[in-house]
Amino acid sequence: MTADETSTVRYYDELGCWVAWGREAAQSALQDSRLSSETLEAANLSYLPADMHEECSHLIETMRRWFVLLDGDRHTVARRAIQPMFSPRRIRKLEETIEVIVAEELDAFAASGATGDFDVITGLADKISARTIALLLGLPGDDDATLHRWAKALADFLASSYRRDCAVNAQAALQEMGEFIKNAPDEEGESIWSRATGGEWDRLATSSMVLFGGLETTAGLIGFAVWYMLGNDLAEQVAASEAGEEAKAVVERVLDVYAPLGHVARMASEDTELGGCPIAEGDLVLVSLTGRDLFDAQDLPTEPSGHQDGDRFDHVAFGYGMHYCVGAPLARVTVANLLTQFARRFPKASVKDVAWRKNRTFRGFDHLVLDVSGPQT
Ligand code: HEM
Repeated sequence: MTADETSTVRYYDELGCWVAWGREAAQSALQDSRLSSETLEAANLSYLPADMHEECSHLIETMRRWFVLLDGDRHTVARRAIQPMFSPRRIRKLEETIEVIVAEELDAFAASGATGDFDVITGLADKISARTIALLLGLPGDDDATLHRWAKALADFLASSYRRDCAVNAQAALQEMGEFIKNAPDEEGESIWSRATGGEWDRLATSSMVLFGGLETTAGLIGFAVWYMLGNDLAEQVAASEAGEEAKAVVERVLDVYAPLGHVARMASEDTELGGCPIAEGDLVLVSLTGRDLFDAQDLPTEPSGHQDGDRFDHVAFGYGMHYCVGAPLARVTVANLLTQFARRFPKASVKDVAWRKNRTFRGFDHLVLDVSGPQT
């Protein structure tokens, strides 16, 4: 059911839920207090086979406390406690260190062709996302492979909650993550574990959710941004931009067309209306962040969409309203910095091979292999 031909809200009988897309409908949905974020039960646990609930009690107990899946005071109190870690002032202070991390990883990437492919995902995106997020959260970030293995397990569970293997892997990942976070050296008392509020379960939940929240999304954006810049021959102008303004514009444009998080879920806690459609209490609404209907025949292109200077940036890739992404400033600074340094270092790089991930919620590439054999500066 849609309100009219132009509506961007639609009910899918076969899925038993609404889908809302486009900036206007997405923003309305995300600021409607009758559309609750407390969707774990309806969007995930109701699909998990009933006999798995006891076996996965650690997973369920932790995710029930993830503040991204909470409304009202419980959300506000948990978010407020960790928000200072993400303040613009703190991000500005970390910018120099982020620049050094990016430069070190580009050095390692330049050397990596001797032993394998120049794969942006394993060679840059996973490493830079892990190190910068760990830096911000006061955690060790050198073992990027383990951090991303945990994050992928959680992302797979969120996208395919009916699968037993995904639930088992996600629970193991959360348990390992919890030990890693609790045991991380933290002499100054400034790690995410020390900042989070509440009892042990709450702090575990907040720390694991914040760590998870940034890893796959930032790595996804790095892949999209490098692919888009090279595919549209933008490296030269990005490299020439003194203050990195071109790189920042490319990042926003990429977020417009390739949102790393495909959608978020909401559930009506009372009757409401969206884009002219009646949403009844208990209905599930999937809010697309890609600008498109989630169930459009989705092509997974091997070439990025074209670029025009002056394109309008009006995405909702970081969400909107109460749950707006706390990590957005960090992601923006990190990816813009990478683009600028990358473009100056590998001005002639081109894309050799790209493969999309299967996960349609946490979107990104499995690999993005480059040819950097041309003369570089
Ligand atoms: C390109 C990178 C990123 C994208 C696309 C992204 C996307 C999003 C979106 C769409 C939301 C809203 C969820 C909702 O409304 O239900 C969100 C929330 C959140 N994100 Fe991000 N994110 C990114 C990076 C990060 C980073 C780097 C961190 C942390 C290090 C982070 C931590 C969080 C947290 C904690 C929330 C929950 C906020 C709340 O519920 O109040 N994100 N993110």
